[in-house]
Amino acid sequence: GRTAVVIPAAGRGVRLGPGTPKALRPLGGVPMLVHAVRAMARSTSVGPIVVVAPADDVPGVRSLLDGHPLPDRVTLRVVPGGGTRQESVRLGLAAIGDPDVDVVLVHDAARPLVPVDTVETVVAAVRAGAPAVVPALPVTDTVKQVAPPAAPAADGVDTVGGTAPAAEPVVATPARALLRAVQTPQGFDRSVLVAAHEAGSAATDEANGGEGATDCAALVERRGVPVVLVRGHEEAFKVTRPLDLLLAEAVLARRSV
Ligand code: C5P
Repeated sequence: GRTAVVIPAAGRGVRLGPGTPKALRPLGGVPMLVHAVRAMARSTSVGPIVVVAPADDVPGVRSLLDGHPLPDRVTLRVVPGGGTRQESVRLGLAAIGDPDVDVVLVHDAARPLVPVDTVETVVAAVRAGAPAVVPALPVTDTVKQVAPPAAPAADGVDTVGGTAPAAEPVVATPARALLRAVQTPQGFDRSVLVAAHEAGSAATDEANGGEGATDCAALVERRGVPVVLVRGHEEAFKVTRPLDLLLAEAVLARRSV
């Protein structure tokens, strides 16, 4: 079987501040999305890659990627995304085609610096028989749980970024030692992931403020499929806020010396 990659890159990146869509912001002069595609293509098991682009910018993303050649074994498709990450992933999955693909990795364009070892660890675990594999790290911050908002957040409005109410009551404090922060690429048996997305396409998660599933594994978990964690990597962090861009630039600079 072959391994395909879906890269959701259709987010606007509101938390990063105003400007071009997040995936197209430069890092070391090269758009984040290009770093992410190259990082995945570096794994020799990877064949087809589907990039899910902002719906109004598919030709732009296509020509951008055409300017950065990939190994011959990699085929690249660019398809339009949807209103949530979950919807974008579903659209990307539908564009894989290739019946020989039996393993699918889903990787955020916003994690441009994931090391190839992490990619290979995930692929190996799926190939060894796990239907769903997620790279993860222990959390460093203590995490508090709060009550869901009274009214769902307006589309695209991010409550984590600074519009949260000044005083939020705490509901619970889960034991930190039992929490993990998850990363991508998340790896799946293809049929398991497709089935989860078909079942989950209508159901946006209310407790999630209408954001849909923020990771693919959550959809699979809900269906009772076992999900396992493997060791993630600090450099697989997600570029979300302005400070993350500084960190990403520093990591990149350190690599190229
Ligand atoms: O918003 P967040 O940082 O969780 O986004 C994770 C990834 O999902 C990013 O690569 C982003 O471009 C992608 N995304 C998407 N379609 C959306 C929202 C996010 O492809 N509607």
